[in-house]
Amino acid sequence: MALFDIIFEGSKQALEAAKAAVEAAIEKKGSDAKVAFPETAYGLPAIYAATGKKIGTLGELRDALSIVESLIVPEQNLEKALNAGLATALSAEIIEACKYAVEEKPYSEPCVGFISDAVIRSLGVPLVTGDIPGVAVVIGEAPSAQEAAKVIKDYQNKGLLVFLVGKIIDQALEAKVKMGLELRVVPLGYDVTSVIHVVTVAIRAALIFGAVPPGNLEELLKYTRERVPAFVNALGSLSELVVSAGAGAIALGFPVITDQDVQEVPHYLIVQKDYDKIVPTSLEARGIKIKITEVPIPVGFAAAFEGERVRKEDMFAEFGGGRTPAWELVRMRDMADVEDHRIEVIGPDIDTLAPEGGKLPLAILVEVAGKNMQEDFEPVIERRIHYFLNYIEGVMHIGQRDIMWLRISKSTYEAGFRLHHIGEALYAKMLDEFGNIIDKVQVKIYTDKEKVIKLAEEIARPKYEARDARLAGLTDESVDTFYSCLLCQSFAPAHVCIVTPERLGLCGAVSWLDAKATKEINPTGPCQPIVKGECKDEIKGSWDSINKAVQELSHGATKEVNIYSIMENPMTSCGCFECICGVMPEANGVIIVNREYAGMTPLGMTFGELASTTGGGVQTPGFMGMGRQYITSRKFLLAEGGIKRLVWMPKELKEALREKLNQRGKEIGFENFADMIADETVGTDPDSVVAFLNKVGHPALTMDPIM
Ligand code: SF4
Ligand code: NI
Ligand code: NI
Repeated sequence: MALFDIIFEGSKQALEAAKAAVEAAIEKKGSDAKVAFPETAYGLPAIYAATGKKIGTLGELRDALSIVESLIVPEQNLEKALNAGLATALSAEIIEACKYAVEEKPYSEPCVGFISDAVIRSLGVPLVTGDIPGVAVVIGEAPSAQEAAKVIKDYQNKGLLVFLVGKIIDQALEAKVKMGLELRVVPLGYDVTSVIHVVTVAIRAALIFGAVPPGNLEELLKYTRERVPAFVNALGSLSELVVSAGAGAIALGFPVITDQDVQEVPHYLIVQKDYDKIVPTSLEARGIKIKITEVPIPVGFAAAFEGERVRKEDMFAEFGGGRTPAWELVRMRDMADVEDHRIEVIGPDIDTLAPEGGKLPLAILVEVAGKNMQEDFEPVIERRIHYFLNYIEGVMHIGQRDIMWLRISKSTYEAGFRLHHIGEALYAKMLDEFGNIIDKVQVKIYTDKEKVIKLAEEIARPKYEARDARLAGLTDESVDTFYSCLLCQSFAPAHVCIVTPERLGLCGAVSWLDAKATKEINPTGPCQPIVKGECKDEIKGSWDSINKAVQELSHGATKEVNIYSIMENPMTSCGCFECICGVMPEANGVIIVNREYAGMTPLGMTFGELASTTGGGVQTPGFMGMGRQYITSRKFLLAEGGIKRLVWMPKELKEALREKLNQRGKEIGFENFADMIADETVGTDPDSVVAFLNKVGHPALTMDPIM
């Protein structure tokens, strides 16, 4: 059969299967039964994005079948073939939606099925920074478990996010590939149709970050083609269904690389039978470039190991975490005081421990020198220690400064890993990431208890204290320059963050010091200085310089931004915000929800639903994304009256911020302010929240109307 005919045949099969699934589901549950995927604000995302319709019931799902049917027009041209591919994707979504309508939990370990909006939002920053350089979808079955593992691990080691569909999941299990979202290898499901769950990740990225209007198929396809760096590996025998699903991927702009004999389509459908070349061929087809830093250590080193845990039973050596004294510090020194690539271990190494392992004190002192280095950059670089050490296979790092906690696994120790390898990893990565500001790095690793304690007093603690004092004195008034951040524009083309000392980026990952360092590291990069000039309104946070910058950087999409207001020209949101803040009219205040909270809020919407009302670089008065730390900033919603407006937040977030909330409350005349803020244990309906606010005498109730 010719390629196009195979595609049409596959799309017809998918449609028939979808029809049968819908009828079976209706038979079981009735046509009024609800149909929904868990934790999303985008309905059945593929259908919603393509048609603008949110399907709510099985009956409506049956009506959607005709849309699918209309996409299948078996004429011999590429456009019709790609449309048929999209029809297959929609059929797959319908079949999967029926699974969720009929069963409580259609997926079980290790498969994850549908992926929540919150997870997609959390992928925003790593994708824009290139920490995750691309997304690989591997469908089918490799000739052997070894070959499967080779391809998957290669992607994993390069930091790609890998989704698995079909028998390849069992092959990965057999070859003991470490899996899970945090390890960047995600088994979706065994049926081909489960591939839709990664397709809708790309589709929702367009809705969340790109503000693509639902129903605009053309813009959707343009977005995924240009901005989502994904591709497909279709391995093993190809059914008509798989081929036509592949056509759907191609319609979204994702090349398909297969190990089977098929008629090739240049750039889009590529045959590669050599398992040593599948990975490079795929990366090249999608134009993904991988930056490799060679780190001379005896175990793996990759961003994908960042989320790996070292459990007690697998542990060989442990440092810090309250069990032994431990700390880490980056400090700037004069050029003459740093000998490049000098790595010293002072005290016993881990091979002096008992055969079953044990504990040691630890101090990691990283000394850097460079012409463009500034003392302000020390904490920015120091924070990276956490990531760089976690990239080591079998090494787990938690915390920072003198509350750090490090574990080394048995297998890593047995592979020959010793303490100086920590120095090697830090040396290589620091020069790699900060090469523009540091020229030389030396690392001293102390395990001698007396020295660790003595140097903590002499060097580390005074540094920490000095930095804290610097941060405390760092206000928006005390600097003459703010920064713009455009990192998220690769996904949210019109979004601009303004980063100030008292308002960090809404992702929570870019503070004013980070932005300043980023500018120094990459002078023409995503963070650019904005010289403040004269302030037009200190309460709203209005500057001509900011407005001019925002206009320019958003290409005219945003004309004016008041950086301290949620009601009047608020800052735009991209989609990867840590928290969302929204006005609650009944309480004359605002609520804040963090991404991790999946429950209901007093606004009648979940985090995901609230989040879907803002984003894509659009101003939405009354709603705004923000970083956690901004909540307790003195500049928090200054225009609307500040923290006094905060009436509700999830308990977990409140507890995490309790101390700072109380401190801020005290400054404005309230003791134990955290206890005046309602949470889900008080209620998630406006009435019980307002009753609580009345009982505690919450200040928001008597303030000027917020809207
Ligand atoms: Fe994105 Fe803003 Fe964070 Fe920059 S500061 S990475 S633009 S959210
Ligand atoms: Ni690790
Ligand atoms: Ni973002």
